[in-house]
Amino acid sequence: MIALHDLKKVYRQAGRDIPALDGVTLAVPSDSVHAVVGQSGAGKSTLVRCIALLDRPTSGTVEIDGVELTAVRATELRKARRRLGVVFQNANLFDSRTIIGNVAYPLELAGVGRAQRTAKAKELLGLVGLAEAGGAFPAQLSGGQRQRVGIARALATDPDVLLCDEPTSALDPATTSEILDLIAALKARLGLAVVVITHEMTVVKRIADSVSLLEAGKVIESGPLEQAVARFGSRLSETLLALPATSGLPQAGITIEVLDQTGPAEVPALTSVGRQLGVDLPIVAGVVEHLGEATFGRYRAVVPSALDPGEVLTQLRQRGAQAELSQAVAGVAR
Ligand SMILES: Nc1ncnc2c1ncn2[C@@H]1O[C@H](COP(=O)(O)OP(=O)(O)OP(=O)(O)O)[C@@H](O)[C@H]1O
Ligand SMILES: [Mg+2]
Repeated sequence: MIALHDLKKVYRQAGRDIPALDGVTLAVPSDSVHAVVGQSGAGKSTLVRCIALLDRPTSGTVEIDGVELTAVRATELRKARRRLGVVFQNANLFDSRTIIGNVAYPLELAGVGRAQRTAKAKELLGLVGLAEAGGAFPAQLSGGQRQRVGIARALATDPDVLLCDEPTSALDPATTSEILDLIAALKARLGLAVVVITHEMTVVKRIADSVSLLEAGKVIESGPLEQAVARFGSRLSETLLALPATSGLPQAGITIEVLDQTGPAEVPALTSVGRQLGVDLPIVAGVVEHLGEATFGRYRAVVPSALDPGEVLTQLRQRGAQAELSQAVAGVAR
């Protein structure tokens, strides 16, 4: 379990204070993945660096399994950092070292003997599916393979926490899937608390148990993935269930927006309301996502002019869907 309490980081640049982190409080249990999303400059990388104590937070605490890392003296810092593994966007391997040499590097720093660290590095390479690659050099591997090496290296000191800063941003979609599957498998096998920084919503949907939206150094939305998506009109819900623009389409009638959560074999509320009222409610944009046990559908549909949109909204809500006139939802979202 990793817990951050009121974490702040102020950079001073050209006589000006830049509050890169402005009071972040967050808890990530073991055996779970927390995704952090946010625009460029929101403070995501600063968050990773402050959690890993690669950068000292200005104030606030970082705790791993009840041990306060931020209270550790400078001389003990290297040892404390072994509780965390960090994976970067481009793996950041040493080109002149073999793959084994790269994975074993944190153990070398920790003073572990050669035979023992080589054995550990081999074991980790097996774990990430690269048992054969130990003698190769980074330049001989693909981007996805290098990222596997980066993950193996991050796990060398048997950390409780794995921090990943944009781990798949430099990879193609198929390789991204493989790396995410690997992170999920390692999380379960090793009971890791994982923090993944990403700007890709596909990454969040695929791997996250919980998610936070960071803006100007503050967590402005946070929660279990399914709850975040179910919060109609919230930024995370709008982004994770993004609809294409339909503003240019000719429409005869009023547009409504619906967020619906259905179980297996359940009919979406929009379908059953149309049937009940005996009308077509044409969908002009829609997205369906399966997250855990739930299926979320977000639709933009047209209510024909002959019908009272208020009645349609009432019927939808009676069936458990969330529904608003399109403008109203857009108003909430901004
Ligand atoms: N070493 C530093 N010195 C001064 N300012 C910094 C430093 N590092 C980051 N900042 C500032 O802190 C803010 C947050 O930066 P950060 O790199 O954490 O953003 P980010 O969310 O990771 O962005 P991106 O998505 O582009 O990677 C920015 O305003 C940035 O300019
Ligand atoms: Mg960054």
